Amino acid sequence: MQYLMGLDIGTSGVKALLLSKNGEVISTATESYPLDTPKSGWAEQNPKDWWKAVVKVINKTINENNVNPNDIAGLSLSGQMHSSVFLDENMEVIRPAILWSDTRTEQQCKEILNIAGGLENLIKKVSNPALEGFTAPKILWLKQNETKNYKKVNYVLMPKDYIRYKLTGNINTEVSDAAGTLLFDVKKKEWSKELAKLLDIETNILPPVIESVEIAGKINKSTSQISKLKEGIPVVAGGADNACGAVGSGIIKEGRVMVSIGSSGVVLAQTNNPTADSKGRIHLFNHAKPNSWYMMGVMLSAGVSFNWLKNSLFDESMDYEKLNKKAEAIAPGSEGLIFLPYLYGERTPHNDANARGVFFGISGRHKQGHFIRSVMEGVTFGLKDSLSLIKDQDIKVKEIRAIGGGAKSRVWQQILADIMGENIKLLNVEEGPAYGAAIIAGVGVGTFESFQNVSENIIKVEDEITPIKENVETYEKYYKIYKELYSSLKKEYDKLSKIN
Ligand code: XUL
Repeated sequence: MQYLMGLDIGTSGVKALLLSKNGEVISTATESYPLDTPKSGWAEQNPKDWWKAVVKVINKTINENNVNPNDIAGLSLSGQMHSSVFLDENMEVIRPAILWSDTRTEQQCKEILNIAGGLENLIKKVSNPALEGFTAPKILWLKQNETKNYKKVNYVLMPKDYIRYKLTGNINTEVSDAAGTLLFDVKKKEWSKELAKLLDIETNILPPVIESVEIAGKINKSTSQISKLKEGIPVVAGGADNACGAVGSGIIKEGRVMVSIGSSGVVLAQTNNPTADSKGRIHLFNHAKPNSWYMMGVMLSAGVSFNWLKNSLFDESMDYEKLNKKAEAIAPGSEGLIFLPYLYGERTPHNDANARGVFFGISGRHKQGHFIRSVMEGVTFGLKDSLSLIKDQDIKVKEIRAIGGGAKSRVWQQILADIMGENIKLLNVEEGPAYGAAIIAGVGVGTFESFQNVSENIIKVEDEITPIKENVETYEKYYKIYKELYSSLKKEYDKLSKIN
């Protein structure tokens, strides 16, 4: 039997997955690592922790099923987007990686906008606005705040590209992660030398860009010595976690939309037409399927909000099952309790680092279950914001497929259908971006004929949740208030940020 391996370098941990050539998931393994928040709004990780965890999960997936390492035909990678690994001339990590969820670069984003000549000009060059999470503002931040470190920078890599370097010794990125740097001309599929020059960022610190399905290197000797992987196994470039999530859910043709409730919340639609939103409200990035793109709205705290609730407001005995049960017992609308999921600011639709979470409408009637349900509902209202922006583009939404940890909860699935007012499809395999990465490995080494083929023969819709009419009507009323709350609080958020 031939196997393919997918690795996902996520925010909470790494996942490895082994896929058979028939599309069957043979084994998975995960390993977590810490996230540091040295200051409010900062989020950092040590790339060495990723690498240690990667070696462990590779060995676990192979050992657990007595897979013969000689049968692994290829490997590919997925990872958190935008997070920046700064490497010196010896390819050593200079400082902790600054993550996608870090919001320290508000000032640098303003500068980029000015230097590029305003939003319209910036979008013309790179199809996206300057957002705190993206890579270019992080590079500028380093230049302005840690000059010594900046001078040492030889390469800036994304997490999965750093891990690919460790596995193969080759330095590359691919289109879907390059797209999230704000230094990539998404339409032409090349670094925007023009914008880099304007920002005074040297393009030689940016890695060469290849397609996601290209073979980027082979497992090197040192990796084969510390892991079960054989030297010479082809390593396919892979993709950004959202591109890989989309591949793994069959979002490779127009009309299909993915809603993902992971750490971040994502609404993503594939498109063959790379026309950016003129106001930059949603992102336009390159897809892992060659010559294809996607539009995407991203919430910073989807699963993050739910886990915050679980870990901060309840003790350890309150597991996911109990949380779901309590939420299920509450009527849609949580009897007037509305949650704004802006714990760490928000990206889509507000692009506001100062926004914060809110429970609005608390009354003496509200019990634990109301708070749990209203967090699920608030996150889903946020996803609806992104879906509305996607519908505003020239994109037809024919089918919505839900993935991610949150979408495994039955009660949350129904909330999703009711708030979106659309049927929600669930898939036979729910393994997230690592699954998509394994598919990319298969397409890259020729085990699979094409993404289309995999999407038709392996990825199957298993269940469909239909909206309940009266819930849809209830939620429409609450959604209106939800939307108004942010506008009402905008000024107060800014004031709060100045004293906090
Ligand atoms: C996408 C984004 C997040 C990360 C999560 O723009 O910032 O979805 O990719 O890993």
